[in-house]
Amino acid sequence: MEEKRLRVEELTKILNDANYNYYVMDNPTITDQEYDKYLRELINIEQEYPELADPASPTNRVGGEVIDKFNKIVHEKPMLSLANVFNEEEIRDFDAKIKKDGYNPEYVCEYKIDGLSVALIYENGKLVRGVTRGDGVTGEDITHNVKTIKAIPLTLPRNIDIEVRGEIFMNKSTLEKLNKEREKEGLPLLQNVRNAAAGSIRQLDSRITAKRELDNFIYYLPEPEKYGIKTHLEALEFMKSLGFKVNPANRLVKDIDGILNFIQEVTEKRGSLPYEIDGVVIKVNDIDMQEKLGYTAKYPKWATAYKFPATEVLTKLKDIIFTVGRTGRVTPNAVLEPVIVMGSTIRRATLHNEEYVKAKNLMIGDTVSIRKAGDVIPEVVEAKFERRTGAEKPFVMTHECPMCHSELIKIDNQADYYCKNPECPKRNIESIIHYVSRDALNIEGLGEEIVEELYNLGFVRNIIDLYSIKDKKKAIMEFDGYGEKSLNKIVDNIEESKNSSLERVLYGLGIKEIGTKTAKLLASEFSTMDMLMQATEEELESIRDIGTVTAKSVVEYFATHQDLINELKSLGVNMTYKGKIAGTNDLVTDKRFVITGTITGIGRKEIKEKLESYNAKVSESVSKNTDVVIVGANPGSKYQDALNLGITIWDEAKTLEVLNNLQ
Ligand code: IVH
Repeated sequence: MEEKRLRVEELTKILNDANYNYYVMDNPTITDQEYDKYLRELINIEQEYPELADPASPTNRVGGEVIDKFNKIVHEKPMLSLANVFNEEEIRDFDAKIKKDGYNPEYVCEYKIDGLSVALIYENGKLVRGVTRGDGVTGEDITHNVKTIKAIPLTLPRNIDIEVRGEIFMNKSTLEKLNKEREKEGLPLLQNVRNAAAGSIRQLDSRITAKRELDNFIYYLPEPEKYGIKTHLEALEFMKSLGFKVNPANRLVKDIDGILNFIQEVTEKRGSLPYEIDGVVIKVNDIDMQEKLGYTAKYPKWATAYKFPATEVLTKLKDIIFTVGRTGRVTPNAVLEPVIVMGSTIRRATLHNEEYVKAKNLMIGDTVSIRKAGDVIPEVVEAKFERRTGAEKPFVMTHECPMCHSELIKIDNQADYYCKNPECPKRNIESIIHYVSRDALNIEGLGEEIVEELYNLGFVRNIIDLYSIKDKKKAIMEFDGYGEKSLNKIVDNIEESKNSSLERVLYGLGIKEIGTKTAKLLASEFSTMDMLMQATEEELESIRDIGTVTAKSVVEYFATHQDLINELKSLGVNMTYKGKIAGTNDLVTDKRFVITGTITGIGRKEIKEKLESYNAKVSESVSKNTDVVIVGANPGSKYQDALNLGITIWDEAKTLEVLNNLQ
């Protein structure tokens, strides 16, 4: 046995070294055949002596572990994103702002790798956890998949506890290879390296991830002070010495000119790199200076991302089709010959309205240029008139609704055409979907497809009908095989949503010009629906941030929808504003809580109110949508539910710590 243990150690070292030399140093030291031979030997020993199988064993590289869900993990230190700059002037502003604070910084310039960020946690020199960024505060546990990424060390040369962060990505050649295989198998192609990497890392079965051959660069050390590190460059060196793959292109520069040179060089090299980059990250080198410059809620103030300008490509405008939305607005959309721009396939682009198409003088059959920048929605820039053949067809704005064929109405001086048919199925479905959506009444369980189905079956034809689902349960179940349990949940959620604050109802009604922000503003100004309904255009306009168009739209809406509002009121839907939001807090705002057990010194009602005043939702039962379960003394079965579902748990100390930070 002792002999086997020593052999396991020996094989682990051989395999880890070989892996490091191949994937991190790009300098193979043994042949593939030798590697496979050692790996097979190790797999065999581990199968025979499971007690010798280390969780960080190189046998994990091939995958094998299958999980049934992704556990949520709260990051020790939030994982922030980066602010963007798009041109030289904005880079100069970034530098000037730092200098204004009296600093004279040196910067490290790095490639902005197009992938997804990951936090890697090592204990005693062994990889114990890999976590996605998630919303920055809470990420998902992807340890089983991270272990398959060969550029990520499973064991460090020193037995230290450390967290490092970097980017998981897919090389361009890997995407090509995978897509060739997928094409043969008739599978849908992976759209671009970023989506491919994200999809590959979100697999429950690590054997699939292993086959995707992901790669990694490490670029951030969250706690440099622990290791006596004073600059970012030193941090990069330190992480490299631990066996992490650090991009050799990273460069220390003294000033703006250094940054601009780096960008110039990268712009030229970009196409020939084996991986996609979408910009350059600029970081203040001195860590003490970084800390003094500090952070906003989302970004470090000591770093920024320069994004490459949008790229344009040519394609054919095959057709212009019309779609209708919730407000009845009918929009022309470009149907394009599919074309890849910055790694993603573009097939459609909105053309907004008739005037937009006319101003660009687009004709069906035109060659058009398409622009896309990063995550931004693609846009049709212009038609190439010189390419016209005479076979192009003119664009004609439709005058009837593409869904119900009723005649469209154009309001004077406005560019848009509207379907005003109150019976238009598409409009009605979209309005119900909007009413139950997350920012509106937030009725869980009523997804877009279910709404559409309930509409088509005739059970829910408008938002009022939602409130009688409870009386139609039997019939719905007969029709569509819904489980009683899930229908009961939906009904409960509908009932619970009656207590929502006014701004949610206001937003949910889908009044033109009323987004979440304006809804909140109106709710807090007028406090009740009745007061708001009595407001005149002048009164509305006198409110800061409310313009003529919005004021008109509100007055018009209420003039024609009194019956609807009265009906909602009589169904018990709350029409008052539930109080000012005291503030926002990353750990609390927009999160769903469940409380079980007692917390010393503060009652449950008080906790609930505090959380709600930061726009959190507190519910009675734990579900997979719960974000946090607060567990006090003598908890009930909800505690076990939380454990079973792998939901973040706050004990008394954590809860009090968070609550103390709220007003
Ligand atoms: S630094 C506090 N460096 O870009 C430091 N991020 O748009 C935060 N990214 O979320 C990140 N390459 O996923 C950093 N060399 C690099 C990067 C990089 C790519 C990604 C990362 C981040 C996003 C922000």
